[in-house]
Amino acid sequence: MAKQRTLSIIKPDATERNLTGKINSIFEENGLRIIAQKRIHLSRRQAEQFYAVHKERPFYGELVDYMISGPVVVQALEGENAVLKNRELMGATDPAKADAGTIRKLYGEGIERNAVHGSDSPENAAAEIRFFFSDTEIVG
Ligand code: CMP
Repeated sequence: MAKQRTLSIIKPDATERNLTGKINSIFEENGLRIIAQKRIHLSRRQAEQFYAVHKERPFYGELVDYMISGPVVVQALEGENAVLKNRELMGATDPAKADAGTIRKLYGEGIERNAVHGSDSPENAAAEIRFFFSDTEIVG
């Protein structure tokens, strides 16, 4: 399998608890390389655009409010089978249902405050990486 890239977001609940380094260690110890990273405070417009696919869901408004409630760390990760690998490392969306040892099981506080986001397909990964990073900000 060739190298692949995925977009990761360390969410406000995790940055608030100073967990960026611990989460990054999990990526690095499992073969994912952080090839772009920045800590930013999303604007409401950015959060609305990023999660536009969930616009009709009942949790959309709360999700946007939460994602702009504090800083996030956006990152591009690269490695073998990176999209699936990151989803395995994150665990299920709901931390209560996530497997032992996954990021969400270890650090998630609830289905919304679930510590991390990861792209769900290679196509979405490419679009989500482009959403946050220009080519010159990605150094593989
Ligand atoms: P994420 O991977 O960032 O993609 C969409 C997010 O919506 C998801 O993680 C959750 O944090 C959030 N969310 C909040 N409520 C729900 C819900 N009931 N079902 C699914 N996702 C939810």
